[in-house]
Amino acid sequence: MAEATFHVFRGDAKGGDLVTYGVPVTEGMVVLDGIHYIQAHLDGTLACRWNCKAAKCGSCSAEINGHPRLMCKTRVDDFKGEPITVRPMKAFPVIKDLVSDVSWNYRVNKQIPPFTPSPYDPGPWKMYPEDVERLFEFRKCIECFLCQDVCHVLREHDGFDRYMGPRFMVRVAALEMHPKDTLSRTDLLRGSGGIGFCNITKCCEEVCPEHIHITDNAIIPLKERMADDYFDPWRSLLRVFGKKKEPRGT
Ligand code: SF4
Ligand code: SF4
Ligand code: FES
Repeated sequence: MAEATFHVFRGDAKGGDLVTYGVPVTEGMVVLDGIHYIQAHLDGTLACRWNCKAAKCGSCSAEINGHPRLMCKTRVDDFKGEPITVRPMKAFPVIKDLVSDVSWNYRVNKQIPPFTPSPYDPGPWKMYPEDVERLFEFRKCIECFLCQDVCHVLREHDGFDRYMGPRFMVRVAALEMHPKDTLSRTDLLRGSGGIGFCNITKCCEEVCPEHIHITDNAIIPLKERMADDYFDPWRSLLRVFGKKKEPRGT
């Protein structure tokens, strides 16, 4: 049976190093299978986070040969016999081995005001198919945080105190573009949301396992809404006097 060489980060917040393991290759094997083999047969102390093994829970995010990816969606035969190096996500503090501390994301999430329909419009609601389709794209997010990991504002410039990151631009877009939501979150986007720090490099889109068009369909329309609210004199006045958001397309 062929064998794959896995170099796996072993360590914690204080430091660590790559450790090499030989893993038997089976048909259809993914990187997470290799990690499970190591845990079961070579070193039971190796820590990793996973749940579904179906690319749906967002738990097994890691950096595989330098690319942020889901371990359960990355096939071993993609590497054609080359060694496979697995490290935890770089943008977040490591807890142990492949497990990183992503709790910052949950704190950011709490800052976003939730869906708020009008109390005078209890439903049943009618929505246009194009509105449903647009929201459905955003609702596909599995919170893997790979987009957060790759975003240079967070990863390279340590911008955790000034930019919420692409995952939360997607969440805000889902709320802002919901035709039955009544809040405006443009103050948040402009303030602690830090949308101005995004310079549309699209790196986040490239790593998204759900193929969400993060920049084209979420961030750019949000930037346009913010510009409308702040620089269109009429909308600017409405904002000052606390008028709820106006219905509009993307
Ligand atoms: S497009 Fe914006 S959010 Fe996406 S990686 Fe680039 S700076 Fe970050
Ligand atoms: S937007 Fe995509 S990459 Fe970002 S957290 Fe959601 S599924 Fe993961
Ligand atoms: S284990 Fe659930 S996404 Fe990989």
